[in-house]
Amino acid sequence: MDRSENNKYEYKGSLSAADTDIPVTEPDRQYFFMDKVKKLTEKRVQELGRPLTFHVTTFGCQMNARDSEKLRGILLKCGYTESESEDADLVLYNTCTVRENADNKVFGRLGVLHGYKKKNKEMMIGLCGCMAQESQVVEKLRKSYPFVDIIFGTHNVYMLAEILYERLSEHRKIIDVREKADGIVENLPLERKYSFKSGINIMFGCNNFCSYCIVPYVRGRERSREPEAIVCEIKKLVADGVKEVMLLGQNVNSYGKTLDHPVSFADLLRMVNEIDGLERIRFMTSHPKDLSDDLIDAMAECDKVCNHLHLPLQSGSDRLLADMNRHYTKEKYLSIVDKIRNKIPDIALTTDIIVGYPGETDEDFEETMDVVNRVRYDSAFTFIYSKRSGTPAARRDDQVPEDVVKARFDRLLTTVRSIGEEKAKALTGKTLPVLVEEVNRQDPSLVTGRLTNNSVVHLKGDKSLIGQILDVHLDECSGFYYYGTPVR
Ligand code: 5AD
Ligand code: SF4
Repeated sequence: MDRSENNKYEYKGSLSAADTDIPVTEPDRQYFFMDKVKKLTEKRVQELGRPLTFHVTTFGCQMNARDSEKLRGILLKCGYTESESEDADLVLYNTCTVRENADNKVFGRLGVLHGYKKKNKEMMIGLCGCMAQESQVVEKLRKSYPFVDIIFGTHNVYMLAEILYERLSEHRKIIDVREKADGIVENLPLERKYSFKSGINIMFGCNNFCSYCIVPYVRGRERSREPEAIVCEIKKLVADGVKEVMLLGQNVNSYGKTLDHPVSFADLLRMVNEIDGLERIRFMTSHPKDLSDDLIDAMAECDKVCNHLHLPLQSGSDRLLADMNRHYTKEKYLSIVDKIRNKIPDIALTTDIIVGYPGETDEDFEETMDVVNRVRYDSAFTFIYSKRSGTPAARRDDQVPEDVVKARFDRLLTTVRSIGEEKAKALTGKTLPVLVEEVNRQDPSLVTGRLTNNSVVHLKGDKSLIGQILDVHLDECSGFYYYGTPVR
């Protein structure tokens, strides 16, 4: 198939027609373009007598953070130098569209970038990720943000070099947004943010179509990577100093179902747990409807799997859960929590909750509060429902008034916080392993790391400790985080 057929916009793939040297298979094709762009950048660097800089700004979730590492890897191979600030020659916004305020933030900041661009004739601005998959966003960018040079979506992050080459050689705006993925492209360059921990995509997309959620529309259908490719990537990362991996997918519990030789997520965990030198395994996100007993067994068996489970609830009301298309009830959810706590008593549980879903009554909200009080989450991400056009929930005419939502949200947050604080205090006085992640941003005499349950711990130390796992006595709990002292 001509790859450009998949594009929703005007990109015509003119390069493939003109140049017969261009490899047709990936990732060779992209390495070819990285080389081409590098020649152009090297020439420009010579002319300017200074490096050409880039900055990638990431909005949203861990998936986007991982995609940004791919973008950075490609840009370094293209001869660009990374800059700490957005005052660079190429700025890419890797965007999120899960809630409306995420979109607004990006539009606001594009205005600031325009200011930089007026002062720097070299500057190019790119927007990619989830927002780019929405046609109304692309229209708005075309009409009101003409200074954006390149726009591409979630399915062709790997094509950055090709898109950039097109932009540099043809001097026109490039919009290349694909309706669906052409396949999973392996072995592209990648520049990790942390030396000692890394996200790993195990699958892409989502098939669940929760009624409020835009993700299935912007990330496409579920596709799993082969387990061998995942294990091989993690082995390489471990050889490169990585101690902790986060297995990433919108719904990791349905991992592997669509592979030619299906593999369960529980079995993938067991395979990853075997990797020598790896210390910690995390994963994100688990959908309660697909959480199997076998997965609970695997989590209990595998010593490297961290004692933390993020299990989005969304709502405690059966009526709303059905309307949301979540495929579980409050009792089913609570029974999963019981099963997990039976097998792994000290596991930390966290969740996502939406307040103000269309038609939410006081009774529905009380059901959510009831689950929060019964499960006693270690922490919870609480969201005010945000209308996403194109989703079934957005078409409902029983949207909840803003003041009612706000009052419920505040009540939920107060309860979530006070339970979280009580639970955190219970660990004070224990000695537990901490993976040191960074020098504390407020107080450089401290470093900050995480327990396996994902809680944050501050301790005295310097950057030489980054990436080490230390046994730390938790001296004091201050709300949700601890101050501790290493015991060896
Ligand atoms: N409004 C509010 N929150 C949402 N989420 C997803 N879509 C919406 C929306 N339209 C939340 C869910 C999900 C998390 C990643 O974002 O709680 O689990
Ligand atoms: Fe959205 Fe539901 Fe898919 Fe999560 S499982 S990404 S909430 S549609």
